[in-house]
Amino acid sequence: SAAQATLCGGGPTGQIHLGNYLGAVSQWVKLQQNNEDMILSIVDLHSMTLPHDPKTLPNSILEMTATLLACGIDPSKVILFQQSMVPAHTHLSWCLGCISTMARLAHLPTFKEKSANLKDVPLGLYIYPVLQAADILAYKATHVPVGEDQTQNIELTQDLARMFNNRFGETFPIPHCIYTGSEFSRLKSLRDPSKKMSKSDPDPKSRICLNDSPDDILKKIKKSVTDFTSEVTFDPDKRPGVSNLISIHSFVSGRTVEEICGEVQNVNTGKYKLQVAEAVISHVQPIQKRIDDLMSDEEYLAKVLKMGAEKATEISENTLDEVKRKLGL
Ligand code: ADP
Ligand code: NA
Repeated sequence: SAAQATLCGGGPTGQIHLGNYLGAVSQWVKLQQNNEDMILSIVDLHSMTLPHDPKTLPNSILEMTATLLACGIDPSKVILFQQSMVPAHTHLSWCLGCISTMARLAHLPTFKEKSANLKDVPLGLYIYPVLQAADILAYKATHVPVGEDQTQNIELTQDLARMFNNRFGETFPIPHCIYTGSEFSRLKSLRDPSKKMSKSDPDPKSRICLNDSPDDILKKIKKSVTDFTSEVTFDPDKRPGVSNLISIHSFVSGRTVEEICGEVQNVNTGKYKLQVAEAVISHVQPIQKRIDDLMSDEEYLAKVLKMGAEKATEISENTLDEVKRKLGL
């Protein structure tokens, strides 16, 4: 039943980095095991809130689809679809927009951050949290796996659900955040370990992408910023650089930080970087192979997205019918 629905969203970028893979994709892969109604949406409409390239977007959507499948998302367990193929999202977004206030949206940290350096702020950037609320409420989702930076946006979704229920009658369950990954597993920039690894960092050497070549991976890890102590010890506060490498190593090898630290007592950070690079490469290579195989079968990828869109449309149109009835539309 939809009461169990978990909604996750992923932007259609072909450039998934290890942070996204650890903090989001691998968590969804775990969630799909115990969750019968998981909905995973490739949020192409959100990707238009800042200037985008219509020529590359279609391929990015396919790449994102291939990447999710290559990382272990199972389309028979998860409703995987492209947001813009399901019309109820934008329709419900309008309905929710009419009960949102400008003051509320202006205060959201994601908006402040993304609009700070813009001379002209697109309306889409301002109202995207309302679309995000619609993405969630269209499925009456009860759980939303997100990073901590999304907390206030999900609070807006909760408020909109409550306001709608109060004004127009009980309709939406109040969705809860599931926080995926701890501060521990939040990967840091390889160039500046006081910052998180992010696709918005202008320096591509700050992150490892799932489609980086073995040579690039080796170079990036070799050049990663550590400190002047040569031992390998885990201390995220005092030694964020080397600790980040240990977190990466732990993630790709499936071994604990303790196990790794026990093994590398006599290894210096320079040599350790080579071990980490090797572990990352051997984890990422089979995924890259699967992505390549899937990308050579666009028909299959299109079929997966079409099947997902049909299921998502069926559920969300039911919600939309109910919403319209309650609104007197
Ligand atoms: P980015 O900073 O690369 O733009 P987003 O903010 O779009 O990433 O986040 C997409 C998903 O990836 C979220 O679920 C977020 O929690 C996760 N994520 C992003 N960066 C990291 C990171 N460095 N470590 C762990 N998880 C991350
Ligand atoms: Na971001």
